[in-house]
Amino acid sequence: MILNNVSLRPFNTFGIDVMAKALTQVTTEDELREVLEHNRKTTDDLLILGGGSNILFTRNMNGLVLVNQLGGISIVREDTDSVTIRAGAGVVWHELVMHCVVLGWGGIENLSLIPGRVGAAPMQNIGAYGVELREVFTELEALHIYSGELRRFTNEDCQFGYRESVFKRNLHGQYIIISVTITLSKHPKLNISYGAIGEELEKMGVGRPALADVSRAVINIRKSKLPDPAVLGNAGSFFKNPTVSKDLADHIRQSHPDLPSYPANGGMKLAAGWLIEKCGWKGKVVGNTGSHRNQALVLVNYGHATGAEIFQLSEDIMHSVQDTFGVELEREVNVY
Ligand code: EPU
Repeated sequence: MILNNVSLRPFNTFGIDVMAKALTQVTTEDELREVLEHNRKTTDDLLILGGGSNILFTRNMNGLVLVNQLGGISIVREDTDSVTIRAGAGVVWHELVMHCVVLGWGGIENLSLIPGRVGAAPMQNIGAYGVELREVFTELEALHIYSGELRRFTNEDCQFGYRESVFKRNLHGQYIIISVTITLSKHPKLNISYGAIGEELEKMGVGRPALADVSRAVINIRKSKLPDPAVLGNAGSFFKNPTVSKDLADHIRQSHPDLPSYPANGGMKLAAGWLIEKCGWKGKVVGNTGSHRNQALVLVNYGHATGAEIFQLSEDIMHSVQDTFGVELEREVNVY
């Protein structure tokens, strides 16, 4: 069913109140094919939405908004050591994580509580606490929007990078992800090297952590640092952590010895949250928006912000970080 003139407020975690000229929610592959068939002429204006957790709307959408709710979790292969599972693109990511943690399948526990749906996970190669999706990713199925052809993408085909994939670059806007297949371990090697996880496990009084403990630790850390979009509109980290030359990192460290940095791609990766905080933005409220008091990298909507207001704040922050440190920030959130 296609609805006309619908507010997109419930469909984006920033809670921005823009209108969609038309909106449809699809729950099966057949429904999806039918919608694409009927709207082939207008697919230029098509916007695919999952959980709307990585998007900033700055204008009304004049085409069709298609909310991908394809469900289902099933086992593709299984042996004594590993299990390969396929999840529909519309499955809530955290529900998939919980499903796997309960069954003792390891590999995505560090990605607990990331907002959004399964289909968005490979688009930006979601990552947290030392783990990225690409480490467990096997393949995905996607429909070509214009031809309706079904295509499988292997891990290599997806060209994963830090918060990057081919779907954000060369193939942007061309495919709709239908399902994602991942392979998990039945004897998981837990990844607790990320500092905050060790500290949290200690706080929890857990000496020899099991899979569920790591997931719980990640959930506790996220809840303490990151605002719940159901309470305060936001889209997680608004910017990527930038990689700069070693020279620039050394130069900044001369006046700021506490600069968090680590080697990456031949340069040094810096913490955008730290840079933004040092420029005085952390916890600052600007009209209906601001940078969150516990994590400067997260921009929030205090209730009635427009997308343009949040975008303007992001521009001001980018200029300020550029002027102060000579570092160019890049948005992680998709702006429409
Ligand atoms: N920091 C500050 N001030 C701040 C925020 C951070 O000084 O306001 C410093 C911290 O003290 C720490 C460093 O920056 O030294 C890194 O902070 P944190 O561990 O909180 O992680 P992050 O780099 O800010 C990234 C991801 C998050 C992910 C966490 C944990 C990006 C853009 N963000 O944040 O992902 O949850 O690591 O792995 O890579 C997201 O993508 O939406 C997201 C929330």
